[in-house]
Amino acid sequence: GVKRKECNIVVVGLDNSGKTTILNKLKPDDSQTSDIVPTIGFNVENFSSKSLQFNAFDMSGQGRYRNLWEHYYKDCQGVIFVIDSADKLRMPVAKDELDQLIQHPDLVSKRVPVLFFANKMDHRDALSSVKCSTLLKLDEISNKPWHICASNAITGEGLDEGVNWLSDQIK
Ligand code: GTP
Ligand code: MG
Repeated sequence: GVKRKECNIVVVGLDNSGKTTILNKLKPDDSQTSDIVPTIGFNVENFSSKSLQFNAFDMSGQGRYRNLWEHYYKDCQGVIFVIDSADKLRMPVAKDELDQLIQHPDLVSKRVPVLFFANKMDHRDALSSVKCSTLLKLDEISNKPWHICASNAITGEGLDEGVNWLSDQIK
């Protein structure tokens, strides 16, 4: 068959936002696991879209590990930033981490696409993707293509839309 082009992406966002759950759901059914635990440091996960084979650096979102994120910016062709849309209280913390990412020297001059998942859309208190983008001031990102999708990592709703957008940006 045709070999898909490989690419590296970095998957970031605060702890408990659903990064690992999203990556698990993007794998083929028979490779998915049912026990997901908070990530320590990071893990590399693989999944594919129609055109690409993704090597995804699934970073821990815990405060003590967030300093690891930047080490993977240099070699990435894309970023997935996961937001817990029900965690209104920590939106400013997510915004702060996003600002650091956008301004990072290894990304600032690089036109890497940034895909946002406004995850946990099934949650009773979930904010809409429009509301999340307003709170995070995504319209101020001028030097990178970005896109936001509401998602439910448990059912997979919204994930394909996001990954298709990212694939189109990278390929
Ligand atoms: P760290 O590895 O600590 O950075 O967290 P993470 O971002 O990888 O989050 P993880 O995937 O471990 O998910 C955290 C919790 O949120 C788990 O209990 C998941 O089952 C739950 N979760 C993830 N996505 C969703 C979602 O879309 N809806 C709901 N209701 N729960 C979700
Ligand atoms: Mg994780």
